[in-house]
Amino acid sequence: MGALAIYPGSFDPVTNGHLDIIERAAGIFSKVIVAVAPNPLKRSELFSVEERISFLNEVCSKWTNVEVDSFTGLLVEYAIGKGANIIIRGLRFVSDFEFEFQMALMNRRQAPSIETVFLMTGAEHSYLSSSLVKEVAALGGNVEGLVPDIVLKSMLKKLQKKGS
Ligand code: PNS
Repeated sequence: MGALAIYPGSFDPVTNGHLDIIERAAGIFSKVIVAVAPNPLKRSELFSVEERISFLNEVCSKWTNVEVDSFTGLLVEYAIGKGANIIIRGLRFVSDFEFEFQMALMNRRQAPSIETVFLMTGAEHSYLSSSLVKEVAALGGNVEGLVPDIVLKSMLKKLQKKGS
């Protein structure tokens, strides 16, 4: 599909569920911009925006049509500035739907020319979220295979530092 799509999120940190969505999107759209946004509503930030971008740059380098960026302010304004008319969001459970529906409709009200497209994660990633991964890792649980290896290493290092 000859369209530029924005895949926005907190990505704190990127999980294998996000990568699954990026891969699907890269197969559909001519270009995908993965856009990191600080989310002021989320208080448990572990990685800085720069760190999140650096992880994403590393793990997305295998897709030639995927670019990593960050933005502040309104998502639709960022999308319009980039010349994109598609916003991608991943859907896991029905429970995601209510919030995602609200966001999509609010974004449409702000910018009717931009369409939100939902992609379903693979079943093996359906329970995965950055918050859950951080919580389990912080409590000493095993999150291997749920996040890219570079993220796993940095997360364990960071959590060790926090704990000491
Ligand atoms: O990964 P997340 O935390 O679910 O991503 C949420 C995100 C960053 C996509 C959302 O908070 C967002 O769009 N932030 C930018 C500010 C904005 O446009 N807010 C209005 C959304 S209707």
